[in-house]
Amino acid sequence: MSKKRTVRIGLLGFGVVGQGVWKNIEGNRQSLEYRLGAKLEISEVVVKNLTRPREISVPKALLSDDPSRVVDNTEIDIVCELMGGTDEALDLTRRALEQGKIVVTANKALICEYGEELFAIARENGGHYFYEASVAGGIPIIKTIREGLIANRFNLIFGILNGTSNYILTRMEREGLSFEATLSDARELGYVEADEALDLDGIDAAHKAVILAFLAHGKWVRLDEIICEGIREVSREDIEVSAQLGYKIKLLAVIARDFEKESLSVRLHPALISKEEVIAGVDEVYNGVSVTGDVVGTTVLIGRGAGQDATSSSVISDIADAVFLLQGAVTPVVSGEDRAIHSKLSDGLKLKEKESLEGRYYLRIHVKNQEGVLAKISDIMAREHISFATVNQKELEDGTANVMVTTHETNEASILSAKTMLETEETVIGEPFSIRIFDSGNA
Ligand code: HSE
Repeated sequence: MSKKRTVRIGLLGFGVVGQGVWKNIEGNRQSLEYRLGAKLEISEVVVKNLTRPREISVPKALLSDDPSRVVDNTEIDIVCELMGGTDEALDLTRRALEQGKIVVTANKALICEYGEELFAIARENGGHYFYEASVAGGIPIIKTIREGLIANRFNLIFGILNGTSNYILTRMEREGLSFEATLSDARELGYVEADEALDLDGIDAAHKAVILAFLAHGKWVRLDEIICEGIREVSREDIEVSAQLGYKIKLLAVIARDFEKESLSVRLHPALISKEEVIAGVDEVYNGVSVTGDVVGTTVLIGRGAGQDATSSSVISDIADAVFLLQGAVTPVVSGEDRAIHSKLSDGLKLKEKESLEGRYYLRIHVKNQEGVLAKISDIMAREHISFATVNQKELEDGTANVMVTTHETNEASILSAKTMLETEETVIGEPFSIRIFDSGNA
């Protein structure tokens, strides 16, 4: 029997995910090496702080705080960048790719901001950049779109890509809790990122949406070009009223392409979604992605979108692809991120302007509880040609009221304009809050 090749892996970062990669390679080493036809050796582990206590103890000889022992080491076959951030991680990823190395990452922010450049460096120097763990944790969404569904053109990809905000919305819905109360529980459970805006303002999920848009359509969009709104303003009442109308509220990433008009809409925002949709049933910290292709129809993937084991499962899947590549297999990754192919996929494709988004809306308007208020709201809406589908009103303890309406089909520009007019109306208190109603048949 031929001797198995040993593939050497260097880990940059040994936090939750890095330790998970170590633990799960060790745990399933036998079956993994059998499937790969190669031996895996984690030969270097680079950390920032050598004395910090860790659950996994690594032989001293492997541990260092010197990234060059991984990045500039010719013995290392696969570099796993699991440190996060966009400063040092960017420098080290560039350096490794410039040397033609294979880099595996879970770093969505880095890909979202610098992916175009990093894939180019990989291509020019014969390196490879793998990123399964960057979107939806343990769900193999990158491989599914790139390989499993390669026969398709993708009209619609949408889903829940942030577990923390899904946990918060689920508990608000099930227990009638406020956003603040649920957030403090989520903090105690360690679910919320150190930079809370990533989870609560939708930035983390928007990073992931940008990556999926690139993968499916070959087009890099910038975060500042797309709608990116989080869940901070969603109230118990919004959830209650939506439930009465047959909807749940979820933080949705939507990547919708109109192949006739050659336009692409990429967006991330809370949305009312019909309870009938499979994605509406994805609760707690779970992620779910619905992919509609012109050949296969709709495929839905649901799973754990974060956490040590789920994320390391995806990192190890990329390590496995890298091992196959090192053994001579031509993986779709090589061509999949090729600029020539991708520029053809996105040839003539325009990013849809935020304001031209069309659809139905939910609005919550806080008003003084006095006569004529509804007439004033109706008048403003009529000026923007917005027609009501439903109207609910809830009196509040302080004598004011919330008016919750849903609209028929309208557009973003009209809603924005109506909200501005409502805000200046004497009977309206504060800023009206709106949530888009998602319709998978017309996204
Ligand atoms: N904070 C993220 C989430 C972790 O809640 O999904 C994975 O990106």
